[in-house]
Amino acid sequence: MNGKLIPDEQIWELLYLADWAPTHKITEPWRFIVYPGDKAKAFALEHAELYKNSTSQDNFKQDKYEKILGNGKNVSHIVVTYLKRSLNVDIPEIEEIAAVSAAIENILLGAAALGIAGFWSTGGMTHKKEMKKFLKISDEDTVMGILYFGYADIIHEGKRIIPLSEKIVWNK
Ligand SMILES: Cc1cc2nc3c(=O)[nH]c(=O)nc-3n(C[C@H](O)[C@H](O)[C@H](O)COP(=O)(O)O)c2cc1C
Repeated sequence: MNGKLIPDEQIWELLYLADWAPTHKITEPWRFIVYPGDKAKAFALEHAELYKNSTSQDNFKQDKYEKILGNGKNVSHIVVTYLKRSLNVDIPEIEEIAAVSAAIENILLGAAALGIAGFWSTGGMTHKKEMKKFLKISDEDTVMGILYFGYADIIHEGKRIIPLSEKIVWNK
C-alpha cells in the first residue's frame, strides 16, 4: 500500500454493503471495529505488542512481530470484523460464520469496485483469546478477520491453481 488515505465515507459505503449480507433468522451477526489513519497504525503496534506479551521468550519470533507491525505501514483503515453470536436464536454457528463471511466478501467486492486495495487476514493474534480481551468482545464471539485497506500502486493479480472446471459438477 502507498500510504494514501481513503475517505471515511467510502469505508462507510463498504460497511453499508456488508450490512446487506444474507442472514438466517435475521441475526445480523457481523460487527466491525474501525481504526482509521493513525489509529490503524496504533492498532498494528498494539497487535504486535499483544503478540510479544502473550508469547514465551522461547516461542517469540522477531520476524513475526515485524510482520504484524508492518501490516500497519501505509495502511489507510483497518476493520476488525467479528461474529456476534446470538445466544437466544437457535441457529448453528456455521450459518453465522457464513453470514459474516458473506459480509466480508461484500466489503472486498465493494472495495475492488472503488479501486481500494483490501486484504483479509487472520494472522498474528486474530484467533487468540488475548485478542478478544483486547477488543473487549465476549468469549462466545469470534474474530473473523482483520481487514486492511489502502491504495496500492501495483494491482495484485490473483492466483488460482485448481481449474474452475474441476470444482464444478454440471449435470446435463
Ligand atoms: C479467512 C481468511 C483468512 C486469511 N488470512 C490470511 C493471512 O493471515 N495471511 C495471508 O497472507 N493471507 C490470508 N488470507 C488470504 C488473502 O486474504 C487472499 O485471499 C489471498 O492472498 C489470495 O488473494 P486473492 O483472493 O486476491 O486472489 C486469508 C483468507 C481468508 C479467506
